[in-house]
Amino acid sequence: MKGSTQRRVFGWVSIIWFTAAIAVSHGLELQTVSQATARCGENVTLTCNVSSSRLDIKYFSWHKNKSLCQYDSQHDDPKVKCEYIDEPLPQSLTLTLLNVMPSDQGKYLCKLRSRHGMTSNTTDVKVQDCLETSGYNRNESYAECWFNGVYSGGGSVRWSQGELNFTAPAFYQKEEMDHHGRYNILSQLDVQKGNLNQPYTCSLWMPSTSKALCSHELHMVKKLKGSSESMVTLQWICLIMEIIMVTCMT
Ligand SMILES: *[C@@H]1O[C@H](CO)[C@@H](O)[C@H](O)[C@H]1NC(C)=O
Ligand SMILES: *[C@@H]1O[C@H](CO)[C@@H](O)[C@H](O)[C@H]1NC(C)=O
Ligand SMILES: *[C@@H]1O[C@H](CO)[C@@H](O)[C@H](O)[C@H]1NC(C)=O
Ligand SMILES: *[C@@H]1O[C@H](CO)[C@@H](O)[C@H](O)[C@H]1NC(C)=O
Ligand SMILES: *[C@@H]1O[C@H](CO)[C@@H](O)[C@H](O)[C@H]1NC(C)=O
Ligand SMILES: *[C@@H]1O[C@H](CO)[C@@H](O)[C@H](O)[C@H]1NC(C)=O
Repeated sequence: MKGSTQRRVFGWVSIIWFTAAIAVSHGLELQTVSQATARCGENVTLTCNVSSSRLDIKYFSWHKNKSLCQYDSQHDDPKVKCEYIDEPLPQSLTLTLLNVMPSDQGKYLCKLRSRHGMTSNTTDVKVQDCLETSGYNRNESYAECWFNGVYSGGGSVRWSQGELNFTAPAFYQKEEMDHHGRYNILSQLDVQKGNLNQPYTCSLWMPSTSKALCSHELHMVKKLKGSSESMVTLQWICLIMEIIMVTCMT
């Protein structure tokens, strides 16, 4: 009994050892970047390189829940492009995600099977800095800013006037997911809180980058006693902090 267990263990150890030895001798490894970060709307390219001498490939694909791209077959998903390169080495499979959205986030798995065994590696895709449209409104009592198609998680609106920041009680926020994983924010500030002679600023704050992605400057309407309502002067500034795809519009 004991002898047969030992033999079995020995057998398994040998098999594992032998398999490992083959994989090592062929340097069978897939090289991927472990993480890729992109802005909303960008194209993201994921490369999977076979680090070995030429292999007789049986199966080579990029997956995320389902197969997105295979080395030997056409794919028809319009959201991705797929390219297999056999020559020159390294043999590689490249998946390009077009116009990425938060819903494209997650782990992408590159899988390879050949005569020498099976191996895989992953790339984790993160998407940030999403903003589709934005704008504002104001009257004598409220200043209001809205940002639609926003991501990343925890994105919020901050209000300030000069050095002064306004806090939660004067602040209203609504979140709504769209099918791309983005949401809309509307924020209202009760302007009794500040000084109507100075402009207010509302900013879309992104916790992932610790930056304001977009800001609007609101000049308030002051009601003058005894005079007709003064012409509204309205100005806006939209600051886009880096070279980006994001649009910030009124
Ligand atoms: C996955 O890719 C990384 C980076 O190229 C590499 O260091 C690692 O060894 C790979 N893992 C496997 C199992 O191939
Ligand atoms: C794959 O190989 C190409 C060509 O050698 C190289 O430019 C690229 O950086 C490699 N990619 C990875 C993820 O290792
Ligand atoms: C993404 O790729 C598509 C198709 O190749 C191209 O039309 C588009 O301009 C690219 N977008 C960006 C932001 O590079
Ligand atoms: C897709 O795969 C991820 C892990 O990569 C998992 O967390 C998620 O639940 C899967 N989604 C579906 C719909 O199977
Ligand atoms: C000012 O705007 C707020 C929010 O849009 C609205 O609820 C309020 O009725 C408006 N007040 C006046 C005086 O127009
Ligand atoms: C207001 O908030 C900004 C960050 O949004 C911060 O840098 C600044 O110090 C704050 N000012 C005051 C007076 O708290």
